[in-house]
Amino acid sequence: MILDMTRPAPLQEPERQHHFIRLLKEALEAEKLATGRQRTYSITTMGCQMNARDSEKLCGILEAIGYKPAESEKQADLVIYNTCCVRENAEQKVYGKLGYLKGFKKQNPDLKIALCGCMMQEDAVLEKLKKSYREVDLIFGTHNIYKFPELLATMEESQGGMIIDIWKEHGEIVEDLPSIRKFGFKASVNIMFGCDNFCTYCIVPYVRGRERSRKPEDILKEICELARDGVKEIQLLGQNVNSYGKGLEDPITFAQLLKEVCRVEGIERVRFMTSHPKDLSDELIRVMAEEPKLMPHFHLPLQSGSSRLLKAMNRHYDQERYMDRVHKLKEAIPDISLTTDIIVGFPGETDEDFEETVKVVREAGFDSAFTFIYSPRIGTPAAVMEQVPESESKPHFDRLLKVLEEVIDQNNEKKIGQVHKVLVEDESKNGMLTGRTEQNQLVHFEAPKSMIGHIVDVVLDESKTYYFIGHLLERE
Ligand code: SAH
Ligand code: SF4
Ligand code: F3S
Repeated sequence: MILDMTRPAPLQEPERQHHFIRLLKEALEAEKLATGRQRTYSITTMGCQMNARDSEKLCGILEAIGYKPAESEKQADLVIYNTCCVRENAEQKVYGKLGYLKGFKKQNPDLKIALCGCMMQEDAVLEKLKKSYREVDLIFGTHNIYKFPELLATMEESQGGMIIDIWKEHGEIVEDLPSIRKFGFKASVNIMFGCDNFCTYCIVPYVRGRERSRKPEDILKEICELARDGVKEIQLLGQNVNSYGKGLEDPITFAQLLKEVCRVEGIERVRFMTSHPKDLSDELIRVMAEEPKLMPHFHLPLQSGSSRLLKAMNRHYDQERYMDRVHKLKEAIPDISLTTDIIVGFPGETDEDFEETVKVVREAGFDSAFTFIYSPRIGTPAAVMEQVPESESKPHFDRLLKVLEEVIDQNNEKKIGQVHKVLVEDESKNGMLTGRTEQNQLVHFEAPKSMIGHIVDVVLDESKTYYFIGHLLERE
């Protein structure tokens, strides 16, 4: 590829990145004319919604340049891994994949490999990649994802070797770059980046940087554009959405932002993730109860039911406060579904601590939960605390799953025979369609594919614990 690097690049963002998008696009068009081939990309996203949203931005940039999605990773000209480091097994997966890509590169020396995401922000990872994974062409982090066009141009211009651009601190929030959505009818919108909570087990604050909020006007502009584009459901994203707005020139609360978002015409459903129990205000609960567009679902990570462990985790709430929030939510929004995250085997966890978690699971009556075995992360305070052996954490983990399934089944049973409004999302593996109720529960049901993207009435027939089987409500 030949890039016309003689044209001066603007210093302002996002104009600078748009300049590199144009340069790359022209070069790719020329290449396509000469070879008859269009370049392709493949992107694998690990981790949470933040990474999923970042990948949409990378895809948007690549498609604006003229790349198209490859049919398989094996056929791609550019392979990207957007990595996660929240637990050890997420990291192991990346090294495994790299070993496998090395083989592809032997067959196709033109293949380019790029790595980005949270794992790249760890010094030890970078050292390991530099030493043992020289086949990687481009490495960038979580703070400079908007610079992807410029980094691609640099990679194209370089004569081989690894291009590494990792920032230790976040820079400005750059708005108005291309992005592509996985679904036409629902979209995620970042409202804030980073996290300041420093829970003692968690690496996210170290790899995603300090908490900073986007301006409400930028968020609302993006949502209005999405609504004009046919989007019905919006999910607002942040590591701790309840503390949205702090540090802005004109401070605004998360509840106030939600009210504004609900006013956007065309948007029918509004969701958000993730809330921290310590910052869950009565104002937010009130707004949830008042605004019909706010879906009756709350993801409220518990982590542990033991007040002693919650203190060691630096969570700033205890079991009593957590249950108080749960009761207030259920009182204000009787049909609310509650989901959570739980860690088993945090340093020092005893049988008694674990029993406290089981107690909260039963009392809160969760509708679903993500459960994790504690994974020590280098650099976090909990990594140097006294560890719990797997022989103790594994039986607890298995028992927690059993209790959860019992609780979820009990809740689901009450819903059998009810009619729920389902936003139809996709085809499911079993040939049916799949969608989500207002409570965010999955339902599989038979219906024509033309219903994808529509909100339809579905009768719930059977609970499969983590999803329902249902049928379309027949209209007279
Ligand atoms: N900001 C969100 C979630 C971030 S990470 C929150 O505060 O809840 C998603 C989940 O991963 C966490 O809720 C936690 O349950 C889990 N997690 C984070 N670090 C972990 C670790 N070191 N070991 C095991 N699970 C972890
Ligand atoms: Fe991690 Fe805690 Fe921040 Fe969530 S709130 S991202 S668990 S430090
Ligand atoms: Fe993983 Fe980064 Fe999300 S560490 S969980 S992808 S913020």
